[in-house]
Amino acid sequence: MKVIAVASQKGGSGKTTLAGHLAVQAEAAGAGPVALVDTDPQGSLSEWWNEREAETPLFARTTIDKLQEDIRRMSQMGIKLLIIDTPPAITETIANVIRLSDLLIIPTRPSPHDLRAVGATVELAEGLSTPLVFVVNGATPRAKITGEAAIALSQHGTLAPSILHQRVDFAASMIDGRTVMELNASSRSADEIVKLWDYVQTRIDRPTRGWHANNERPAQKPRQNYGYTPRESAQA
Ligand SMILES: Nc1ncnc2c1ncn2[C@@H]1O[C@H](COP(=O)(O)OP(=O)(O)OP(=O)(O)O)[C@@H](O)[C@H]1O
Ligand SMILES: [Mg+2]
Repeated sequence: MKVIAVASQKGGSGKTTLAGHLAVQAEAAGAGPVALVDTDPQGSLSEWWNEREAETPLFARTTIDKLQEDIRRMSQMGIKLLIIDTPPAITETIANVIRLSDLLIIPTRPSPHDLRAVGATVELAEGLSTPLVFVVNGATPRAKITGEAAIALSQHGTLAPSILHQRVDFAASMIDGRTVMELNASSRSADEIVKLWDYVQTRIDRPTRGWHANNERPAQKPRQNYGYTPRESAQA
């Protein structure tokens, strides 16, 4: 069983949206049985799952104290993929989740605030040697800042090649427990999730752990603003 954590300190970056969508897509792509865990006291993912009519993915109720043991149990039960949603914070709980994960997904909106906030989550993952992948979420088509965000993030880790754009179906589909794929399988949003899962799958299929093993760690790593310099101040 592979374990994916979705985390970012920034609220509203898309953690819950990604956890639900990737779980449904992984199941559809044959990577299941997939189970979800919600470690966020806000409970958005579990509320979404409660609204869901489809039987998959599964939802596992657990606590952070029992997570390690429950991961072992789920693996023995034949679960192939576990996706864990986390609260918008940097806490010991989140460190524990990342420690137990094979891959950390960090969603980030292409805004200066979001980009600056990824630093703490990146450092946490690096300290625990958990490979990470950034996913740009909520991008506006043709906006210059999306390209800038991609460049800034790629200096600090791997950026998923599929960017998720800002579209109402991402929010609307989750109201009644579904996903964009289940609303309209041929939508652009669905296509982005399909491509994102294909990419994430290649990442978790890699046997090695850690930046060094993947030879992806950048040689130079400016720590202060995670490489993101707004154009105005770059010119100043
Ligand atoms: N690509 C998108 N297009 C449109 N709406 C989106 C998109 N991604 C997320 N949203 C909406 O933005 C809001 C925040 O997303 P989400 O709940 O997934 O973020 P989060 O990181 O889990 O938030 P929190 O930090 O509070 O847990 C939700 O209302 C969601 O439906
Ligand atoms: Mg959330």
